[in-house]
Amino acid sequence: MKSGPEAYQRAVEILSQGGLVALPTETVYGLAGHAINDDAVTRVYQAKGRPSRNPLIVHVLESEQAYSFADPHTHDWLDALVKGFWPGPLTLVVPQAENIPVSGKALAGLDTLALRCPKAGWTSAFIGLGFEGPLVMPSANRSGHVSPTTAQHVFDDLGDVIDLIIDDGPCPGGIESTVLGMEDDHTVLLRPGSTSVDDLVPFISDLRLPNSSAKPTAPGMLKSHYAPKAKVRLDAHDKRPGEAYLGFGPTELECDLNLSESGNLEEAARNLYAFLRKLDTVQTIAIAPIPSHGLGEALNDRLRRAAADR
Ligand code: TXA
Ligand code: MG
Repeated sequence: MKSGPEAYQRAVEILSQGGLVALPTETVYGLAGHAINDDAVTRVYQAKGRPSRNPLIVHVLESEQAYSFADPHTHDWLDALVKGFWPGPLTLVVPQAENIPVSGKALAGLDTLALRCPKAGWTSAFIGLGFEGPLVMPSANRSGHVSPTTAQHVFDDLGDVIDLIIDDGPCPGGIESTVLGMEDDHTVLLRPGSTSVDDLVPFISDLRLPNSSAKPTAPGMLKSHYAPKAKVRLDAHDKRPGEAYLGFGPTELECDLNLSESGNLEEAARNLYAFLRKLDTVQTIAIAPIPSHGLGEALNDRLRRAAADR
């Protein structure tokens, strides 16, 4: 259904009754269910085929809602980042406040929770309709597959198992939100994403990578994820028989598709998942090297996962 007042009304009805709605965000399309409704949350896991031990991000519709879910000791930390980046593509993992109303299934037994306030037209529309959420909202793809950046992608993966898809065209960001957490009083980068580290640095002086000897805090951080069916060959400088070649930047090589002919990382992020889906009819997708600065860090993170052994 095309986005707009009618679609929002319908979405609110479905979500209030425990149904599932795919919603566009500034990053990728999400599969939304009411976060306080156990059955809705269970259906989200089932629809995606997602392992129940992989927790979901709790999406608030306005920034202020986040504070009631987060342990009060973390409010100063939240404040700085919320003011700098929300609504926007930054997810913050914090210790939970006591007795939060979120379904335990969404939290997968952890004592932390991930909070995000997306930038999208439907958030204020939903509040105007008297629906305040919060929503669980993983990316609206089958578990392990690449995230959807158009309504058609959602339909291809989940069309027969969800109640409504709201179509607002291609997502402007194209890769998922950046996820930050806390470890020993330092801020750690749990998942590079649409908010680049360069943008974060003025707000966080102590940004670190998580302690790699510790076990992954969430299965979403596992190596193989975000993968097309085809094999993926990285840093490719040639196209071999049986391969499709995905280029980046100006090149003499014949590309099946080019993430950004001008070498623009924002454009490449917008195109990445759509192009991986388009080329996913060959045995192997060979991908040109992508620089690692700015959004390149998140792009390379997703590509390494797409190329990892399955
Ligand atoms: O841009 C996005 O973040 C999209 C849009 C739809 O909002 N959502 C998204 O959700 O990417 P999902 O479920 O595909 O990825 C959420 C990631 C997973 O890797 C999950 O393991 C991690 O966040 N996560 C959730 N709760 C966590 C927690 N308490 N601690 C650590 N990681 C957590
Ligand atoms: Mg996902």
